[in-house]
Amino acid sequence: MCGIIGRVGDGNALEPLLTGLENLEYRGYDSAGVAVQNGSGINVEKRSGKVEELKSSIGEPLQGEVGIGHTRWSTHGPPTDANAHPHTDESEDVAVVHNGIIENYTELRERLAANGYKFTSDTDTEVIPHLVQYYLDAGYDSEPAFRQAIDELEGSYAVTAMVSGEHVLYAARSGSPLVVGMEDGEYFLASDVPAFLEYTDSVIYLEDGDVVVVDEDGVEFTDLEGDPVVREPETVEWDPEQAGKGTYDHFMLKEIHEQPTSLSQAIEGRIDPAGGRIALADFEPGTFADVDSVQFVACGTSYHAALYGSLALNQAGVQSTALLANEYSVSAPPIDDDTLVIAVTQSGETADTLTALRRAASEGAATLTLTNVVGSTAAREADDALFIRAGPEIGVAATKTFSSQAVMLTLLAQRIAADLRGEPPADLEALLPELESMPAAIDDVLAGSAAKTVARRYSDSEAYFFIGRGLGYPVALEGALKFKEITYEHAEGFASGELKHGPLALVTPETPVFAIFTGQEDEKTLKNAEEAQTRGAPVIAVCPDDHPAVEVADDHLPIPDTEPDLAGLLANVQLQLVSYHAADLLGRPIDKPRNLAKSVTVE
Ligand code: F6R
Repeated sequence: MCGIIGRVGDGNALEPLLTGLENLEYRGYDSAGVAVQNGSGINVEKRSGKVEELKSSIGEPLQGEVGIGHTRWSTHGPPTDANAHPHTDESEDVAVVHNGIIENYTELRERLAANGYKFTSDTDTEVIPHLVQYYLDAGYDSEPAFRQAIDELEGSYAVTAMVSGEHVLYAARSGSPLVVGMEDGEYFLASDVPAFLEYTDSVIYLEDGDVVVVDEDGVEFTDLEGDPVVREPETVEWDPEQAGKGTYDHFMLKEIHEQPTSLSQAIEGRIDPAGGRIALADFEPGTFADVDSVQFVACGTSYHAALYGSLALNQAGVQSTALLANEYSVSAPPIDDDTLVIAVTQSGETADTLTALRRAASEGAATLTLTNVVGSTAAREADDALFIRAGPEIGVAATKTFSSQAVMLTLLAQRIAADLRGEPPADLEALLPELESMPAAIDDVLAGSAAKTVARRYSDSEAYFFIGRGLGYPVALEGALKFKEITYEHAEGFASGELKHGPLALVTPETPVFAIFTGQEDEKTLKNAEEAQTRGAPVIAVCPDDHPAVEVADDHLPIPDTEPDLAGLLANVQLQLVSYHAADLLGRPIDKPRNLAKSVTVE
């Protein structure tokens, strides 16, 4: 949801700015722009369209050592050249990039316009450079003018600004992410680490309320009043190669193929070698013995992982519910001191999820975040955080983060159940070796070619349905979400047993039904699939080779035989591949589906 980059150092800023924007494009890609201090003033280049279009439209390369850049996902105003960031005041003395929403922008805009400041865009952001200019005109120095302007903003923001003629960047954060990167006299500000990972892995995350001043001598962290605050530097473990596409045509395909590795990383060290216990060494309180019920809050794909975790907990005898984070404020079940609320979010920055997490904490729940991003807001705000260690995921459609979330939640379910009962659940012994062989099982799925054949065979269909039961149900929902997200075709996921309660009316010979078999009441799921087949729909069974569904189905996506707790995750890999190949056949922009952004930092 908008990507910000800023850079101060020796040499021309343009290249690191454009590299940063390319690496941040997953956050928004409907317009892009840069502003560079060129020695005599601020030079701005911006336009609607992708970063690549911006790059080729910059004729005479911009020169300057300090600059800011932005890639946009529109919230106020359509993606036009005028609405692209950076925004400036009329005389281009102040340039600003912003991620978030300024809630009081109408009021600020009216006030500034009444004072003669001229607006040229529909954005909320444009009030910021005018407000800074207003205080500069009133005689403030740049830093106090920036602070004063920030103080008047209501809403969520990560802002980076520069003032003409200065070798300085000013930044502030409230509710939207911002991180500083540091390397030998070169400094970066960005919405996310991959923006500058090829230049440095040494970072400091801003916290809400922080104001940062960056020049070639260093970074100064203060609060809004100007009092110093101490923020510790960290080294990120991701390397730039991980954040690149390698030999794959798309990030999504690369990330699908990374799942054996990302799952190994998720599991590593978390299964006690003595057996019988899930070791979550990074979980500080050490026990869940006081937990009475668990509520999961999450959105989109993370919600499907949360539902997977919640069903796994219920099946292990622990009371649990998965709730859409954006519905939580109106429909949260009662919370007490023994309620554990788990936020599942790959980015750790999703506004809906953060709001739900804050509400749960304010009502006295213990909170835990499961995320991929160390240092993210959700990780820092919850009482505790567990990390899925999936590495950077650039494709907007989540793939490897989903499987790592689901595997971590399977471990967590076992651990919570064990702590509550004082002994491991009965099925843990069978599950652990299967968990450890998941990476190899996924390798088997990836080696096959059935998904591509199936994608081609059904490419002319009218709609695509996905059904599953038990732990196959969240996988059906996820299969449908992935399919619609990247192919733009109509796709729906249903609990197998629900098909006959309404959706069957949609079934025709032009609506293939993907049936997921996880070993939980498969005979019923097969019956439900046959009910669709009788009405002409082709059925594609996702199951092991020796499964009875293979005989009945029109097509088969094979998965290795495993425990019911894990079979859905193997099925999910087949469905990811089907979506990928179907979208590729249609020529869709797979890594950047229209209208979407990877990290949604508005409610
Ligand atoms: C879909 C997808 C989204 C996200 C959702 C929540 O492929 O990735 O549905 O899962 O926007 O994002 P996080 O997990 O960052 O909270």
